Amino acid sequence: MADRAAIVTGASSGIGLAVTRMLAQTGHAVTMAARRPDKLAGACEQLRGEGLEVQDVAADVGDEDDVKRVVAAHRDAYGRLDLLMNNAGVGIGAPIGELSTKRMDIQLATNLRSIPLFYRESLSLLQAAAAEHRNALVVNTASIAGKRGQAWLSIYSATKFGVVGFTQAMNKELSGQGIKSTALCPGFVDTAMTDFVKGHVAPDDMIQTSDIVAAVRMLLGLTPGCVIPEIVFERPAGGGLPG
Ligand SMILES: NC(=O)c1ccc[n+]([C@@H]2O[C@H](COP(=O)([O-])OP(=O)(O)OC[C@H]3O[C@@H](n4cnc5c(N)ncnc54)[C@H](OP(=O)(O)O)[C@@H]3O)[C@@H](O)[C@H]2O)c1
Repeated sequence: MADRAAIVTGASSGIGLAVTRMLAQTGHAVTMAARRPDKLAGACEQLRGEGLEVQDVAADVGDEDDVKRVVAAHRDAYGRLDLLMNNAGVGIGAPIGELSTKRMDIQLATNLRSIPLFYRESLSLLQAAAAEHRNALVVNTASIAGKRGQAWLSIYSATKFGVVGFTQAMNKELSGQGIKSTALCPGFVDTAMTDFVKGHVAPDDMIQTSDIVAAVRMLLGLTPGCVIPEIVFERPAGGGLPG
């Protein structure tokens, strides 16, 4: 059995892939979950080629059975869970008058509903890790849009506010048992998700995935008596654009 193990959702690109690499490089066996199987398998192969211990489980985190399948596959392969990163997310912009119910439901299911399901399905594994070292960690990727509502991204904002609130609730419920939760609230990060705005904001002026990796690394180094409920990542002021 690995010394440490983690599940990362949305692990096939961007923030999730960068954090997965760091976790695997620091001794975690990692289950990588994401929606598109080919893209995920490619990312997983890349990390395996670097000598890292990872497995891929293609799943739609908005589907309850898929969430159960990811956690079961992780339990079977690695037998323990020290860090859960609920990172899969999707943002679909639209003014409220043009809101599509289907697109709203996709965002609610992917960004928010999936997170309580992963906590519930992972709880016994997290409790076992916490009993061992009082430092089980759940990292929930919210957004700056979860701190300040954004026009055109109203549903995305609402889901990310929900992630921040749910993270607070989980700390009230579980941190005393040694399961600590942190919501990450970044502005624009240079990933595929911000391609739509790269004509206005240069990628180099965005937050980098390495900044998110640095924050998760910091969380891993905390002592059991320290909980950081959320981290807000802002870009330098002056752009006038959200994020
Ligand atoms: N980039 C930013 O500026 C920014 C800012 C704040 C917060 N965030 C948050 O950061 C997280 C990661 O995004 P990113 O920027 O790294 O973008 P990304 O590169 O597009 O990554 C998104 C990941 O989520 C996965 N995903 C999407 N829907 C899924 C579903 N239903 N089931 C399973 N996996 C799903 C994607 O897999 P597929 O490609 O296969 O769908 C991909 O692995 C998201 O929660 C996002 O809201 C991003």
